[in-house]
Amino acid sequence: MSVIIAPSMLSANFGNLDKDIEMVNNSQAGWFHLDIMDGVFVPNISYGFPVVKAIAKKAKKPLDAHLMIVNPDKYLKEFASAGVEYLSVHYEECKHLHRTLQNIKSLGMKAGVAINPHTPAELLSDILQYANFILVMSVNPGFGGQSFIESTYGKIEKLRNMISKQGLDTLIEVDGGVNKENAPLLVKSGANILVAGNSVFGSPNPEFAITELGRI
Ligand code: DX5
Ligand code: ZN
Repeated sequence: MSVIIAPSMLSANFGNLDKDIEMVNNSQAGWFHLDIMDGVFVPNISYGFPVVKAIAKKAKKPLDAHLMIVNPDKYLKEFASAGVEYLSVHYEECKHLHRTLQNIKSLGMKAGVAINPHTPAELLSDILQYANFILVMSVNPGFGGQSFIESTYGKIEKLRNMISKQGLDTLIEVDGGVNKENAPLLVKSGANILVAGNSVFGSPNPEFAITELGRI
């Protein structure tokens, strides 16, 4: 399977969002990555439902929402009605992760588990079979434009081995500091989905930057 590029709209131009949505629609990107931050789980506030719905109206590709919020259970239904197809919640925030994943799926979405850089891959062994994808954070969540944490390659490799040992088809998404230099090794280590904010929207030619990321 070829790699899916998911541009992170956190780095888009919110003064002219339509233009950036159009760019993603016309590009080789596979998904729109939407970062939802509440200023509590992470030290930053991003955007909420009005923006998600505005993007959903124009997007011609699946929406992948990454919840960096406390109490995500409270909002699952609203994300489903807003048009989100892939929804990830943080391992560090969910006391009853199995139940949360079941709820996400029962709302018709694909369920993802996101892990912070300090969370070991091994902790996911009993939940892997219930997740459609794992989102591996390769920076501390909260901001775009941070530097990639090198130990992520090893974590992805471990997860890939755990997934194949259990005979699963769980996808691995990597998020934070992804660029055309580290993308090939990330895919080689076992990543299926690459999220990219700054390396796409900070580039003079974002559409070409997406093409380059996908050219592994
Ligand atoms: C960080 C977010 C990322 C971020 C990625 O908390 O989860 O999705 O927008 O941006 P870059 O690619 O610039 O690190
Ligand atoms: Zn994200």
